[in-house]
Amino acid sequence: MSDSPLVPPSTVVLVSGGSRGLGLAIVTDLLDAGVRVAAFARTVTPELEKLAAEQPDRVHAGAVDVTDPAATQAFVREVEERLGPIDGVVNNAAVGQDSLHVHTSTGDIARIIETNLTAPLQLTRLVIRRMLGKGLRGRIVNITSICAQRGFPGLVAYSATKGGMDAATRSLARELGGRMLVNSVAPGFFASEMSAVLGSTQLDQIVRRTPTGHLTEPAEVVPVVRMLLCEQTNINGQVIVVDGAASV
Ligand SMILES: NC(=O)c1ccc[n+]([C@@H]2O[C@H](COP(=O)([O-])OP(=O)(O)OC[C@H]3O[C@@H](n4cnc5c(N)ncnc54)[C@H](OP(=O)(O)O)[C@@H]3O)[C@@H](O)[C@H]2O)c1
Repeated sequence: MSDSPLVPPSTVVLVSGGSRGLGLAIVTDLLDAGVRVAAFARTVTPELEKLAAEQPDRVHAGAVDVTDPAATQAFVREVEERLGPIDGVVNNAAVGQDSLHVHTSTGDIARIIETNLTAPLQLTRLVIRRMLGKGLRGRIVNITSICAQRGFPGLVAYSATKGGMDAATRSLARELGGRMLVNSVAPGFFASEMSAVLGSTQLDQIVRRTPTGHLTEPAEVVPVVRMLLCEQTNINGQVIVVDGAASV
């Protein structure tokens, strides 16, 4: 019998970018699984507002920019007061890109890196410091992308941030020495506001390259995120690709 420490399932999970797309699907799924959920985005959508109004004891929603450390810190404090200590984080908030590298301004590169790489690293640092201070064992899930592993034109800076988060996942998993499980989930392309910039030719091409014959659906990604947050596993420091083998 192994005597390695078990990391208990998360009961209060913070989801960045939980207002729409995959983030909202993760919020809804976790609530259905009995988890208390805090979610933020720059704008709280009617869908997220409705969940918070229906289940005030189990959902805390706020309008927060993930690149604003003071605002994220204040939100984390509110969540702890409303729902209890946070023991799971899903770094999902991100901005996309649709420009060749030569046409991407310095400002746009900086904004993509700040939102998709610097901010999740800072949010993770903030939350794990509080978890460690409270003696909590937690789970971190970084939503990255297949773009970190395969090249896609028009997504150079974006891909760099996702590769950065996958690398951070591995090092943080080692650094935390088993006190938390840290993993990435890397979806293939799925329909959302972010991917709406893809034309039908590009989408058809992705589908043709996908053995399962369809674009990834958020509903096919959320069970993996839930498993990493809520199941007793020893999965740590991994990048789990959910793309129907399009990239294989
Ligand atoms: N769509 C795809 O094909 C695809 C494929 C692989 C991986 N992914 C990844 O999956 C995750 C979700 O993507 P999605 O397609 O669901 O995107 P989406 O529909 O554009 O949603 C992005 C979410 O992040 C929030 N967000 C963006 N910037 C923010 C900021 N500065 N502060 C706080 N929240 C912010 C958005 O709300 P506000 O704009 O109101 O702030 C929204 O809630 C992302 O990490 C993305 O990189 C997407």
